[in-house]
Amino acid sequence: MSKRDFLSLADFKPDEIYHLLAKAMDFKRQRRQNKPHRLLRGKTVALIFSKPSTRTRVSFETAIADLGADSIFLNANDLQLGRGETIEDTGKVLSRYVDALVVRTHDHSELEALAAVSSIPIINALTNKYHPCQALADLMTILEKKDRLSGIKLAYLGDGNNVCNSLMLAAAKVGIKLSVASPKGYEPQASVIEEAKALKTGLNGIKITRKITSAVKGADVIYTDVWTSMGQEDEAKERRAIFADYQLNSEVLALASPAAIVMHCLPAHRGEEISAEVIDGEQSVVFDQAENRLHAQKALLAKLIVNE
Ligand code: CP
Ligand code: NVA
Repeated sequence: MSKRDFLSLADFKPDEIYHLLAKAMDFKRQRRQNKPHRLLRGKTVALIFSKPSTRTRVSFETAIADLGADSIFLNANDLQLGRGETIEDTGKVLSRYVDALVVRTHDHSELEALAAVSSIPIINALTNKYHPCQALADLMTILEKKDRLSGIKLAYLGDGNNVCNSLMLAAAKVGIKLSVASPKGYEPQASVIEEAKALKTGLNGIKITRKITSAVKGADVIYTDVWTSMGQEDEAKERRAIFADYQLNSEVLALASPAAIVMHCLPAHRGEEISAEVIDGEQSVVFDQAENRLHAQKALLAKLIVNE
């Protein structure tokens, strides 16, 4: 089998995404029932992270252990990468040792360069542009809670960042109707909007607006993320002022469908992008969403490493 990467949701067709989601739900059941699922016995997966992580790191390491494989966690600064070795040489060398690489970095182009020369699957654990593993777990969570994806109305509030970009591609793949409400200058980047529109499966549509009310009205799912992503800390104060009207709070939630669920990829800043009463309230599914990272990534690892 020729190697496949997961750099973006665009790398998988809709039926492959549904297959991953079904496998992820199988893995979830098996774990609940204490049934072993050691599909990757004898394999090794390395993780290279240039940014902090709680969920992605721990869910991948746990997924790898549950699948019977070994993991090696590498802080990018501890590699010769930090002293100027190229990403290409790093990829060629690590391809000789391990069966897949899970990488969290800054520039998406770095990940593309790595994938181009590596003979093993490269998995995007977040770049400045995309966070596809998050979006996969998000789809799983919506499917679990709403029993369908196609036709769901999803409102994303706030920064048009990596999480938003991957959500747009995910939504386009499965026919979710997505409205993004962002302040001027902080919309998702135009090239990704075009990319998502080009993937359009028929039912869906992507709407970019400034108005929270028009995005949220009647939504089945409301999603938000931090106003300041990793690497933008110098802009935090300015961003707090710019995004002040985009908080997901009870007033905003009241505009959505009464059965709406609230999602956030976490980490969250209560009192900034989301109020404490909403994230800790009854409609919030953020911890199920975080748990699903584990199950969805198992499906991804099994698919990419042993094609199961
Ligand atoms: N949602 C997410 O990717 O969290 P971490 O940054 O903790 O991995
Ligand atoms: N947009 C956030 C997501 C963190 C999981 C960031 O890039 O920091």
